[in-house]
Amino acid sequence: KKVKLRVPATVANLVCGFDILGMAIHEPYDEMEIKLLDTPEIIIRHIDSFGLPQEPSKNVAGVVLQKIQEHLKLTKGFEAVIRKHIKPGSGLGSSAASAAGAAFGANILLKNILSKDEIIHFAMFGEELASGVRHADNIAPCIYGGITLVKSTQPIDIIPLNAPDLFVTAVHPQVEVKTSDSRQILKKSITLKSAVEQWGNIAGLVAGIQKNDFPLIGRSLNDVIIEPIRSILIPKFDEVKLKSLDLGALGGGISGSGPSIFMLAEKRDIAEKIAHLMKSVYDEIGIESYTYVSKIN
Ligand code: HSE
Repeated sequence: KKVKLRVPATVANLVCGFDILGMAIHEPYDEMEIKLLDTPEIIIRHIDSFGLPQEPSKNVAGVVLQKIQEHLKLTKGFEAVIRKHIKPGSGLGSSAASAAGAAFGANILLKNILSKDEIIHFAMFGEELASGVRHADNIAPCIYGGITLVKSTQPIDIIPLNAPDLFVTAVHPQVEVKTSDSRQILKKSITLKSAVEQWGNIAGLVAGIQKNDFPLIGRSLNDVIIEPIRSILIPKFDEVKLKSLDLGALGGGISGSGPSIFMLAEKRDIAEKIAHLMKSVYDEIGIESYTYVSKIN
């Protein structure tokens, strides 16, 4: 018995919703094939060229499968064959895709024994291995699709939101930004003034998403807490953002913990112009980059 999955990339945070908001996009996506084995082994095979560890306890999908096996006291095992297209370290939810795909696929093979919340619970072990933090803002949209709000992770309380008909342009400049590092540099406390501004933005963004109010989405995509600090790690961040807005983007910012940057737009031609602009900004300074034009999935 085996399942084949396409597991989508995700954009976490959606600028102001640090650790709570995220959206799935059509491209890029990973391909995974998971088999139920009669023996209790966990086997991970990567058929891509990213050089990720294949030892189950060191592999994001591997730990998730181990946890599920342990918890359910299974006498069977799993083999996962993974072809990643979502580049590890891109900020586009690469580790979440492996983790969520493993949990989702295993659950199908086990005849849907797990609830969605349990799938998310197990997938979070993969995120913990990848970044040291059990966050669900990439995993939740990967499992539910569209845009999700992680109201809480303890207990797991996920609110699926509307998926507005918008285009998403993302650029992944080839610079290394580790999630663990880009979390470390954040301030541990914030002022009441910036908290008020930030929750105004988050509430505005969620209202805009639910009402398909694109201008409201645009003016709510502001982050006064995380972006000013993290953007320092991303070359040309301000230029990419400002020029994208000039081209007609509704708004955007850092995708997850970076280095990818994403922008939302109402029209495909604008989204494509933004992709072109992003690439040319990085070409100019000799940084290789990948761009994706996609829709909310
Ligand atoms: N919410 C997480 C962060 C996402 O911003 O660190 C990491 O992918």
